[in-house]
Amino acid sequence: MIQSSLSIIKPETKLHVGIIMDGNGRWAVSRGLPRIAGHRAGADAVRRTVEACPSLGIGTLTLYAFSSDNWRRPQTEVNALMRLLRIFMRKELERSLRNGVRISVIGRRDRLSSPVLNAIETAEKTTINGQTLHLRIAIDYSSRYAILRAAERLRSQEYINRSITEEDFSRLIADSDRTNAPEVDLVIRTSGEQRLSDFLLWENAYAEFFFTKRMWPDFDANELALAVNDFLSRDRRFGALAQAVAG
Ligand code: IPE
Ligand code: IPE
Ligand code: MG
Repeated sequence: MIQSSLSIIKPETKLHVGIIMDGNGRWAVSRGLPRIAGHRAGADAVRRTVEACPSLGIGTLTLYAFSSDNWRRPQTEVNALMRLLRIFMRKELERSLRNGVRISVIGRRDRLSSPVLNAIETAEKTTINGQTLHLRIAIDYSSRYAILRAAERLRSQEYINRSITEEDFSRLIADSDRTNAPEVDLVIRTSGEQRLSDFLLWENAYAEFFFTKRMWPDFDANELALAVNDFLSRDRRFGALAQAVAG
């Protein structure tokens, strides 16, 4: 439920929103709690956010849950995050099925433990027919790595003797993600940071950005509605002229 006086305008076509869910650690520390308590609270924010998507016209939601650079954190935090991700996948299955949510995970799989991998594969298989929302969770994700893998495949016979289009390259990236998704319309980053941290660099070419100071565990349907409404008020020109000027 969105408890807001915001009038929600739905976009004409379904949106792809990417969220860099940042600030869990600071949220916890400011309350005198261990960082992991912030990650736990962050999982609740994920649930609230996913639930709010369909009514705001969001068809694809890509959540940055664990970057390839996050392996650099202390082992105890990494372990706790992996455990939370595994539990989240298991717990969300039933709810996702009920709500028509299709879960996909993007990112590397060769460095994940088998319990995490199993949870991912089960979630993907079970929810494959979900039509209401495509929820993509980025785990051990690095956009530069995804682009490099796509570039590497250009050396194969199929591509070697012809020129490569942007569509070809987008398809190669989608293949390495194992999921197809439209270009990103809107990127939201919480916690006041204003950077991409290696998130969807190719797919964000014409994305709009919404930065909020709110920490991720405090994110909710209202804030998502605010971001979407702000997005809908922007004039996306894609290099051309504004509608009014172009005539
Ligand atoms: C985001 O919160 C979650 C992950 C990166 C896994 P952080 O853990 O980065 O929280 P801060 O930025 O330290 O507050
Ligand atoms: C980006 O957040 C990754 C995720 C939200 C999963 P970080 O907190 O890891 O990013 P930096 O280090 O501040 O750029
Ligand atoms: Mg952070």
